[in-house]
Formats: sequence, C-alpha cells, structure tokens
Amino acid sequence: MKLIQTIKELRTELEGLRNAGKSIGLVPTMGALHAGHASLVKRAVAENDVVVVSVFVNPTQFNDQNDLLKYPRTLEADSALLETCGASIVFAPSVEEIYPEQDTRQFSYAPLDTVMEGKFRPGHFNGVCQIVSKLFLMVEPTRAYFGEKDFQQLAIIREMVRKYPFNLQIVGCPIVREEDGLALSSRNTRLSSEQRKQALQISATLFASVEFSKNHSLAETKAFVENKIAEAEGLRLEYFEVVDGNTLQSVAQWEDTDYIVGCITVFCGEVRLIDNIKYRGVQA
Ligand code: PAF
Repeated sequence: MKLIQTIKELRTELEGLRNAGKSIGLVPTMGALHAGHASLVKRAVAENDVVVVSVFVNPTQFNDQNDLLKYPRTLEADSALLETCGASIVFAPSVEEIYPEQDTRQFSYAPLDTVMEGKFRPGHFNGVCQIVSKLFLMVEPTRAYFGEKDFQQLAIIREMVRKYPFNLQIVGCPIVREEDGLALSSRNTRLSSEQRKQALQISATLFASVEFSKNHSLAETKAFVENKIAEAEGLRLEYFEVVDGNTLQSVAQWEDTDYIVGCITVFCGEVRLIDNIKYRGVQA
C-alpha cells in the first residue's frame, strides 16, 4: 500500500494502472476510520483491481468551525486499518494541495439539498460536492463507494454524477452498526461512556418505530419517534423526517410512495449524530 500526498504523484501512479486496463475503486473518507469504512474498502477491493482511499478532512463542508477543529485526525491508525483491508493507495493530501485557492464553485441540487442536513447545515453539501467532484476528477475512478448512513449525501452525489456528468458507478453500502445497534460514526469517539449509552436510544427508537409503523399511520410513527427521543435522557432532536428515498421530500402517508426512509439527527451532548431507517421498498 502506497501513501500519496500530492495530486501529481497520484495522477502519475493511476495513469499507468488505467493504461494497463485496471479498474479503480475510490473510497472517499475524512479519516478516523472504523468498521463502517472498512466494509466500504473491502467491497471496493472485491470489485476493483486497484483501490484508492482518500483521507482528507474537508474544511469546506464544515459550517461549524468547532466541529472542524474537533474532528479526529488519526492517519497512522487509519493507514494500518487500510493495509489490513487491502487498499492499494492512501491519498492524504494537505488542505493547500486540494484548495490552492478558494473553491468558488456552487453546486445546487434542489430540492435534494435544501431539506434536512441542507436546511440545518447551510453550505455543507456544496462543500461535499466540491471535494467529491475534485476527487472524481483526480482519480477518475471506475466505481466510488459511499455509506448509506449519510443517506442524503449519497442521493446528492448520485445526482451530481448524473448532472455533471461523471462516467463512474456510485455504489451505496449498508449502514454498519455496533452489536447493540448504534450506527458507526467517527463522531462516536467523542461520546463519553454515559453518552454512548444515551446515544443507543437513537437506533433503538428507529428499530422500534419499524414495528410500530406496521399498524400505525405515518404521522403516528413520526410522533412516536419524536416523543421517544424527547423523553430520552441526554438527547436533543434536531429533526426526524420521513421522506421518499429517491426525492428526499416528506411523505404524508405510507401509500404515497414505494420507497420510504426515516432520517434523524440528534445531539448527544454537543456531538451531532445522524442515522436512518428504511420503512418501505428499495431504491428505484
Ligand atoms: O462522508 C464523508 O466522510 C465525507 O462527506 C466525504 C464524502 C468523504 C467528503 O469529504
């Protein structure tokens, strides 16, 4: 496995491989890797000849500077994990390498990016599209892998690929959870052991709501989740939306569409956690 820090070296390395007809898998990450990332990398390794994992804490997608400063940076441990997963290249550039000047490009995929995270984190998806589009242009991957935990991000990246257009396949991979149900997240390392227990209520509530939804209306199911989180110690709900999994627009009744997902964001102390659950159907 090679550690590469410059775009020039990355391009030179990949050009040879591409010319030799090798397929290239890309797994974009911000580091602080966990088993969720490992599952993306392992899938990419199984499906491609060469796998590039980018490790870059992208400043343009943080609308909260405190969050950016506190974001864990663990390149040594990340590299060790990636080696065991079979990655070929770790691309870990500096901020100056990626943004030698301000990126003024604007990406707008309304209404996908105006709801949920788009509403509560203005500019976030613009920053995500800035870095992901740069990575696609630098790596020119055959396939790129993203986790379904960031459900809205995945939908927006699919739309960006369609509209840009990029010639690659986006592969969405299932959420990886701890044995007790907590969705894996780099942010979990910031939870105290007490908060870790409190955060468990998020996935527990979502799982319970799937059972509840079988004989209750959508509005009742939404209220069920909102009330459970409001009652849970140490948690503060930012939003819970039940949306069409393709358009990300709110759904009023179960019968309205075939693909329905509940997306939730909860603060546990000052740590912002997201999760989602599927109520109906599959992606179109
Ligand atoms: O999901 C993430 O970790 C980031 O948003 C991504 C896709 C690596 C872009 O910085």
